[in-house]
Amino acid sequence: MFGTISSFFSPDMAIDLGTANTLVYVRGKGIVLNEPSVVAYHLRDGKKQVLAVGEDAKLMLGRTPGSIEAIRPMRDGVIADFDVAEEMIKYFIRKIHKRGNIAKPKIIVCVPHGATPVEKRAIRESVLSAGARKAGLIAEPIAAAIGAGMPITDPTGSMVVDIGGGTTEVAVLSLGDIVYARSVRVGGDRMDEGIISYLRRQHNLLVGEATSERIKTQIGTARMPEDGRGASMDIRGRDLLGGVPKETEVTQAQVAEALSEPVQQICEAVMTALESTPPDLAADIVDRGVMLTGGGALLGDLDLALREQTGLAISIADESLNCVALGTGKSLEFERQLAHVIDYG
Ligand SMILES: Nc1ncnc2c1ncn2[C@@H]1O[C@H](COP(=O)(O)OP(=O)(O)OP(=O)(O)O)[C@@H](O)[C@H]1O
Ligand SMILES: [Mg+2]
Repeated sequence: MFGTISSFFSPDMAIDLGTANTLVYVRGKGIVLNEPSVVAYHLRDGKKQVLAVGEDAKLMLGRTPGSIEAIRPMRDGVIADFDVAEEMIKYFIRKIHKRGNIAKPKIIVCVPHGATPVEKRAIRESVLSAGARKAGLIAEPIAAAIGAGMPITDPTGSMVVDIGGGTTEVAVLSLGDIVYARSVRVGGDRMDEGIISYLRRQHNLLVGEATSERIKTQIGTARMPEDGRGASMDIRGRDLLGGVPKETEVTQAQVAEALSEPVQQICEAVMTALESTPPDLAADIVDRGVMLTGGGALLGDLDLALREQTGLAISIADESLNCVALGTGKSLEFERQLAHVIDYG
């Protein structure tokens, strides 16, 4: 008569709706889903039908025939295509709910510090119409810092730099709140674009986003290798002169050059943050260093490049790709203690 307990169990969730990856944390369980933020549609008689979401859809990016469209609904850290984003959130919630739960979950989602009220409302509405009973928002830098295990409620300054696919958010926190935060639209996507345009300009070679991301994650580096060359890898693309497929060797030195602009912009964002921080908190940051989170923190030697340019001690968070989801999840687990960081609208 009452059904099974699990059918009444409402798994409250925390979602990191990222430009590159979406992660879902379920209360009491941790991260249960981690998939690329991509939706692929079949276009049939002018109507769109969802064909694949997440990992399967990402494999289709850049490889679709005319009848299929693969879309990344998040750009620069915010929702660029609402219908697609909602479809994606619904799909992921359903995937987790597949055991027939009937109670609607409470969902906390993180939003970039720079999100406008309109963007925040849109995210909240997407989550509600995807099936949430209550939607809370948390600022991404706070989530990142909690997830990285920083003592954010202490009366000392902590600096966290979250380098995602779309944006880099630099924030200074003290007493559980944001003292300074700035979001720059530079992240993994810009790095991929940097590699694409470098290869086009210097080698007349056209490569797609999947290839440039592979180059970045395999041999990408933020610093010129000491021997002036570094490791290398063979890649394939299209020769722009002959129009035919061509295989070429790419070196770390070349990738360092291709990435120099986004890397420089990240360094400048950290310097600007330090200069804009009140002196006592800035002194704390000089003492305690800076924590890097997000996938971009894994770029080879980025910590060293940042240390050289800013003079600050730099650490990379454990599980840097998961920090925001873990921190958002923690705000769900410790709702009472962390109530002040969640905005229920
Ligand atoms: N080893 C690596 N080296 C360099 N970049 C990496 C590495 N691993 C992952 N990345 C990049 O990290 C980015 C994804 O990071 P993350 O999941 O933190 O972003 P996101 O949260 O989806 O984006 P945002 O926070 O901007 O909305 C991608 O651009 C990916 O290519
Ligand atoms: Mg992120």
